[in-house]
Amino acid sequence: MGGNGASVRRRQGVVGVHSLQRFDLEVPSLDEAGRFYRAFGLDVRESGDTLELRVHGDAHCWGVVHGGGAKRMRSVTYGIHADDADAFAARIASAGAGLAPPSHGNRDGLWLADPDGVAIQLVVAPNVSPAAKSPPSPVTQAPPGHGAAPARSRVAQVRPRRLSHLLRFTPDVPRMVGFCTDVLGLRLSDRSADLIAFLHGVHGSDHHIAAFAKSDGPGYHHSSWDVGSLDEVGRGSEQMRNAGYGDGWGVGRHVLGSNYFYYVRDPWKSWAEYSFDIDYVPVDVDWRAADHPPEDSIYVWGPPLHPEFIVNHETRA
Ligand SMILES: [Fe+2]
Repeated sequence: MGGNGASVRRRQGVVGVHSLQRFDLEVPSLDEAGRFYRAFGLDVRESGDTLELRVHGDAHCWGVVHGGGAKRMRSVTYGIHADDADAFAARIASAGAGLAPPSHGNRDGLWLADPDGVAIQLVVAPNVSPAAKSPPSPVTQAPPGHGAAPARSRVAQVRPRRLSHLLRFTPDVPRMVGFCTDVLGLRLSDRSADLIAFLHGVHGSDHHIAAFAKSDGPGYHHSSWDVGSLDEVGRGSEQMRNAGYGDGWGVGRHVLGSNYFYYVRDPWKSWAEYSFDIDYVPVDVDWRAADHPPEDSIYVWGPPLHPEFIVNHETRA
């Protein structure tokens, strides 16, 4: 959706970003990044001295990977409605959060710094948050007398359908939640004390498009990519093991957001998530944010938590 006029999906009288558009990640090796994200099932293209991450069959660029430095999140881009641009500019000014655009790359829109110093870009763009909960992929039922499972020898590559969310480490979760709600106009979906928080877009989005976990400093934890079935989550885990990326956590199911997950460890000790069936917050529904016990903040079921799942390797470098 997007465009203008009555077809625009928006919550009236509220200024807030409508979608997670893109992330810019810096990593030591573009070759390794290309190998990893291609194995994951993304459409990876070289562009100048970067790699662009798309899902197959869709022109939208969800991620840009820059080479040459230690792994870190360079910037996060959110989409806004055109008639909210002035209000966002005023908010950024009153928060004292304005930032000069970077000296290279896509300099469009409004730039600001979040409390951890990560650059945030706001651009007028089509709303790439889904308009409703993403449906499961169609399943072909096996007729009686036939097996339903695909043959391992002929199984198709799992290919994500879209980017869902990013999770980052922060030393101060409540401070980051305050910034996301007051400046970006995101809304709190759920949290567990000051340990973790999940936020959604006010104009209809997944249960979280941004999430933050407490650490001793900033860091990039994972990008999460929507797939069409629980079977694809499991096949994705197998696909990555077979490609040499055997370290991971899952398959399991989260409580907060409800999605089925498998996290595969990327070459820089952060993660990429295959996610299926995440909760959706429609444009006309006020999600009841709650503070959950810590044991509910991780998962309902799955293998024991990976011992390094919440280790921030950026602060240990
Ligand atoms: Fe996630």
